[in-house]
Amino acid sequence: MTRTAPLTTDDLTAGAPVHDPAASGEWWRDAVIYQVYPRSFADGDGDGIGDLPGVTAKLDHLKGLGVDAVWLSPFYRSPQKDAGYDVADYRDIDPLFGTLADFDEMLAGAHERGLRIIVDLVPNHSSDQHVWFQEALAAAPGSAARDRYLFRDGRGPAGDEPPNNWQSIFGGPAWTRLAPREDDGPLGPQWYLHLFDSSQPDLNWENPEVHTEFEDVLRFWLDRGVDGFRVDVAHGMVKAAGLPDWDGRAAMVEGTVDEPATDPAAPEDGSTGAGNQGPMFDQDGVHEIYRSWHRVLEEYPGDRCLVAEAWVEPLSRLARYVRPDEMHQAFNFSFLTAPWDAARLRTVVSVSLDTMDAVGAPTTWVLSNHDVVRHASRFGLAEIGGRQLNGIAATDPQPDAELGLRRARAATLLMLGLPGSAYVYQGEELGLPDHTALPAEVRQDPSFFRTDGAEPGRDGCRVPLPWVGGAPGNGFGPSGRTWLPQPGVYADLAADQQYGVAGSTYEMYRTALELRRAEKIGTAGLAWVDALAGSPDVVAFHVAGVVVLANLGATPVALPAETDVLVASGDLVDGAVPSDTTVWLRV
Ligand code: NOJ
Repeated sequence: MTRTAPLTTDDLTAGAPVHDPAASGEWWRDAVIYQVYPRSFADGDGDGIGDLPGVTAKLDHLKGLGVDAVWLSPFYRSPQKDAGYDVADYRDIDPLFGTLADFDEMLAGAHERGLRIIVDLVPNHSSDQHVWFQEALAAAPGSAARDRYLFRDGRGPAGDEPPNNWQSIFGGPAWTRLAPREDDGPLGPQWYLHLFDSSQPDLNWENPEVHTEFEDVLRFWLDRGVDGFRVDVAHGMVKAAGLPDWDGRAAMVEGTVDEPATDPAAPEDGSTGAGNQGPMFDQDGVHEIYRSWHRVLEEYPGDRCLVAEAWVEPLSRLARYVRPDEMHQAFNFSFLTAPWDAARLRTVVSVSLDTMDAVGAPTTWVLSNHDVVRHASRFGLAEIGGRQLNGIAATDPQPDAELGLRRARAATLLMLGLPGSAYVYQGEELGLPDHTALPAEVRQDPSFFRTDGAEPGRDGCRVPLPWVGGAPGNGFGPSGRTWLPQPGVYADLAADQQYGVAGSTYEMYRTALELRRAEKIGTAGLAWVDALAGSPDVVAFHVAGVVVLANLGATPVALPAETDVLVASGDLVDGAVPSDTTVWLRV
């Protein structure tokens, strides 16, 4: 039913609690964590690429916004074939981003301001420039050096077919063959596995040396004082025994699926198509790794945490990563990929809370990151329900910017009203859209090249941030250079254009984060508003004495006269919540 009569206070009564967490002091349970993508956050030295001194200089922006922690994407030594997710040295900073001293300064500055720091760990693969891979290339087949990676002989009489039929997530085969050498066996040069780019060879997690090395890397950063790790491709390190052939489709971000994912709805278990079913993902063996890492973190004071980046569905499979002796949080990609649909959102929220409650872990909420089209652009693609994730090219249908921003703000206010931990991707607090018309010449994402341009890739969501509207490079750094061009609209959306401006996206985030903290929303229980629990248009719930109400339908929802509106994602019209708007109410 689409509601036209005004709501009464009675209509807003809470139903039975669907989530009622026990009190717990661990900071990560309700933290709002801001993702810094270092190359695009702020440039300190003027080379057009963001760096750690740039992050340090902007810590007050983050403090002012009201987040609790910062997760930084990789800044390690790397040839940057996949923007740093190809690590050549896990214990050093790439000169592009600064030095270890710059890191220490950034960490100290964050801690002084009460901000925790989470760093990115990339254990599924290293760079091909890593000393281990260089040693493996120099060593003979069957050697200890080769055993740190997944080298295999090829198939066919001359070994010239890949060892299995797996495809790289970035497109093309997941195997690359070495150049011929004199000591090659009868099957010729070996092949190595890379689930991502050929410059990112997969490590062999059956090898104890790999385990020892990564525990040591954890300790290196824990000793420096980091508060946690975001674990890249946490579902990928262990592969099914024998590396069996698999005919599913490996795709960027939605993961691997058996069928093309046009609308892979499985509403009852909260699945949205974000999962992976292939033999390269979500194998039981990964959990033993996280148990051992959990033990390493326990040696340190201060509730250090592990966050899983695991594109796994259904949510009950994801919950296995955050059992009490494993990781602490996992990104909720089922929420990120849910369409703008009231029933689907209610389901994914309920199932997320239920399944994480069952293992005693907090639920996380996330709408954007450096791998997906920003939600301000995604939600502007009304005709496909805002589900497009893999980048938008100039030749694609372009998002409706106004609709996208309106829905993005509504989605954010809904997200920040949910109990648990929330992730904010740099620039979403400014309402930034993707650059949706980047020319091919400036694109850098390997998925663009490995698919011959069929996948636009992720560059559009990685554009350098605008700090000072109208300044060269919109104030990204002292030279005005930016490693990717910014779209024209970034001048109006720059941070300085929004600070202190009533109704700006920045001020909406700031107000919501302040209320979230004051009302202790992150650690509260949740109960649906009973009278609206079947509505096709409205998502409404009680949390910590606040009613969060999102209107996704076309008909305005009139509020009871005595309602106190705490924050709104858009202006109310005659006391009613218009289409694509979320409000927080005190009733
Ligand atoms: C997930 C990261 O978020 C993404 O940016 C990267 O390309 C892949 N893992 C490979 O490391």
